[in-house]
Amino acid sequence: MEDLIKQWDGESVIVHPDRPTGAWIIIAIHSTRLGPATGGTRMKPYPDFQSAVHDALRLSESMTFKFALAGMPCGGGKAVIYLPPDFDPRLRNDLLLRYGQLIHQLGGLYKTGPDVGTSPEDMDIIAETGAPYIFARTEAAGGAGNSAPPTALGVFHAIRVLAGHLFGDTSLQGRRVVVQGAGAVGGRVIEQLCEAGANVVFTDVAPRLANEHAARLGVVYVPPDDIFDVECDIFSPCALGGVLNQANIARLKCRGIAGAANNQLAAPEDAARLRERGITYAPDFCINIGGAMAITGMELLNWTREDANRRVVEAVEKTLKETLDLAARERITTDAAARRIARQRLA
Ligand code: PHE
Repeated sequence: MEDLIKQWDGESVIVHPDRPTGAWIIIAIHSTRLGPATGGTRMKPYPDFQSAVHDALRLSESMTFKFALAGMPCGGGKAVIYLPPDFDPRLRNDLLLRYGQLIHQLGGLYKTGPDVGTSPEDMDIIAETGAPYIFARTEAAGGAGNSAPPTALGVFHAIRVLAGHLFGDTSLQGRRVVVQGAGAVGGRVIEQLCEAGANVVFTDVAPRLANEHAARLGVVYVPPDDIFDVECDIFSPCALGGVLNQANIARLKCRGIAGAANNQLAAPEDAARLRERGITYAPDFCINIGGAMAITGMELLNWTREDANRRVVEAVEKTLKETLDLAARERITTDAAARRIARQRLA
C-alpha cells in the first residue's frame, strides 16, 4: 500500500471507514494546481481494499490531465466508495449523506460529480450535506443534470477526428465501429454513430440493454468475449477501465481506438503495444472530458448548454489533433504525447 501511494504523484489520499455499512470512502486529491480537486464519485464493490485505492489514485490522475487539456479551472481528484459484497441497498441514502458531510468538512479541497455507480439523483442527496461542493445535481434541484450526453458528444467527435487522421476523411458513413458498453455514454455514442451512417457492432454485459439497442437501432450485437475479434475501422471502449491488455491487444483487428471509458490501458506498456501493432489510440483522458467539462462550465462559469456543447467539441477536437500530431512528429505513443501536453499546461 505504501508503494502504491509513493508511486502515485498526487497530493493526498483521504481514507474514511463508513462504520454503519462497512463501506470505505477513499478520496484521492491528485492535484490542486489549477483549482480545487474535482472528479466523479465511483461507487461499487471491489475485490479488495487495495484495488479500490488503486482505482481512486489512477482515476484522480486522469482528472488532472483531463481538466488541464480542456483548459478548465479545476484540479484532479476522484472518490471511490468501496461497497462491501453484502451491502444492503436500504443503507445507501444514509451512506451518501455521510459522504456529503465528509466532503463538506474538506471545505472545498475536493468537489465531486457523478461517475460509475452514481447519478444526478445521488448528487441531490449528497448535496443535502455536502453543498456547495457538489456538481451535476438534477435540473429540478438547480444543477446541470446528466453528464452522459456531453461525454458522448465529445467521444463521437473524437471518433470523427480519428477517422480523419487514419483515412483522410472524417465522415463515418459506412465505417465499421465497434462499441464496447451500451450504458449511459456508450448507448448515446451508438446512437450518434448510427445517425452518422456508421456500421455499428456492439456489446454489453447487460442482456436487456443489448436487446433494446439491437432492436431499436438495428445494430449488431456480439457477446462481450468476442468483441476483440471483430474486424473494424475503430474500436470504442465505453465500459469500465483496464480493457486493453497484452492478451487482447494481440487480438484486435482495428485501425484506431477512441472511447469513453476511463483508464483503458491495463498497464502503461500497453500504449507501446498498440503502437507496435499499428493501432492509433486516442488517449481516454484526451477525449472523455465532455461531461466534466460541460457540467463544471455550466455551474462554475455560467455557460449555457449550447456553449458547453460547442466548447466540448472544440476542446476534444483540438487536443486530440495536437496529440496525434505530436506523437507522429516525435515518434512516441499517443499516450505519452497527451501526457506531455497536459504536463506543459500544469507547469
Ligand atoms: N465522471 C466524470 C469523469 O470521469 C466526472 C465528473 C462529472 C466531474 C461531472 C464533474 C462533473 O470525467
